[in-house]
Amino acid sequence: MKALVLCGGSGTRLRPLSHSMPKQLIPVANQPVLVRVMGNLLELGITDVGVIVGDRRAEIEEVLGDGSSLGVRVTYLRQDAPLGLAHCVRLARDFLGDEDFVLYLGDTVLTDGITDLAAEFHATRPAAQLVVQKVADPRAFGVAETTEDGRVTGLVEKPQHPRTDLAVVGVYFLTSAIHRAVDAIRPSARGELEITDAIQWLVDQGLEVRASVYSGFWRDTGKVEEVLDCNRELLNSLTPEVVGEVDADSVLTGPVVVEPGARVVRSTITGPAIVGAGTLVTDSSIGPYTSIGAGCLLDTAGISDSIMLAGSSVCQVREVRGSVIGRGASVLTGMAQHRLVVGDHTRVEFAA
Ligand code: DAU
Repeated sequence: MKALVLCGGSGTRLRPLSHSMPKQLIPVANQPVLVRVMGNLLELGITDVGVIVGDRRAEIEEVLGDGSSLGVRVTYLRQDAPLGLAHCVRLARDFLGDEDFVLYLGDTVLTDGITDLAAEFHATRPAAQLVVQKVADPRAFGVAETTEDGRVTGLVEKPQHPRTDLAVVGVYFLTSAIHRAVDAIRPSARGELEITDAIQWLVDQGLEVRASVYSGFWRDTGKVEEVLDCNRELLNSLTPEVVGEVDADSVLTGPVVVEPGARVVRSTITGPAIVGAGTLVTDSSIGPYTSIGAGCLLDTAGISDSIMLAGSSVCQVREVRGSVIGRGASVLTGMAQHRLVVGDHTRVEFAA
């Protein structure tokens, strides 16, 4: 079985971070979402992975390389414009051949992995197997209608008036039947070749399409709030490990990771929290639910429920909460005035 992982698209909802980094590379609990995806595929024994890339190929390639450091073999497939998920399957026709494959959206976090789902697919081997989860508001997703025994009878992409609360998760188990489907469909109203339309085509042809319900934690990292949700969830299963230096005046409670080369001086860290390699923390308080990337600086800072990306710094600011701080960004305070250099589509909030 092969895998096709989608990392094209524009990621506009994650602005401003997606200006400088593809959303599939946003780190949660200090690991890029895409690296977690590769881990989930490897758990199934899948090592042959096609990765669809657009303009951000260089950054994706910098992290994945040829895949060998992660135990997989990556083939990059270029998509010139984000013309839809089914368009990606069309592009990958030669790479996929007639094998079964997993189509995995590169911004999808499933903390329980996908081995149970794969076992179900292999046991029943329908033409296609979707993964679904009940959500409060399914309008932002593909929405499935199923029979009681899990057979899919209808699929609609982002309906205004959903007929069920079953959202389609970004992992699809597909057979070669999908290739006829992606060739048969036409672009949707938003101009994309939708994978939901392709799978609906299979249903219309009378082929068996099934849906498995995923009961674990699932988010796609399309928005900052979702990235923070993922960070919290993944940190909940953090295994504590202190390799870096922690001085005698510092206090660590709960599960805390201090990576190699990090230094913690006169500070308090409340787990779950990670201090990345080479980061310097002085006179600060960190956590809970905070991931600090590599090479960061915190001085007289207080930060909780947040993510700091590599090389960022927070100095003299006490209550940073629910925040994502981009690579190399600085958050500093002056007592009576603020000097701001704020990029496009950035949100800055000052609380009294
Ligand atoms: O998250 C699950 C949802 O994912 C499903 O419920 C929907 O049915 C499905 O269409 C998809 O909706 P999104 O609006 O979330 O898709 P998005 O545009 O965010 O793209 C998902 C991933 O695929 C993302 O990593 C970017 C990549 N992509 C997207 C498009 C449109 C490509 O590589 N090429 C593309 O042309």
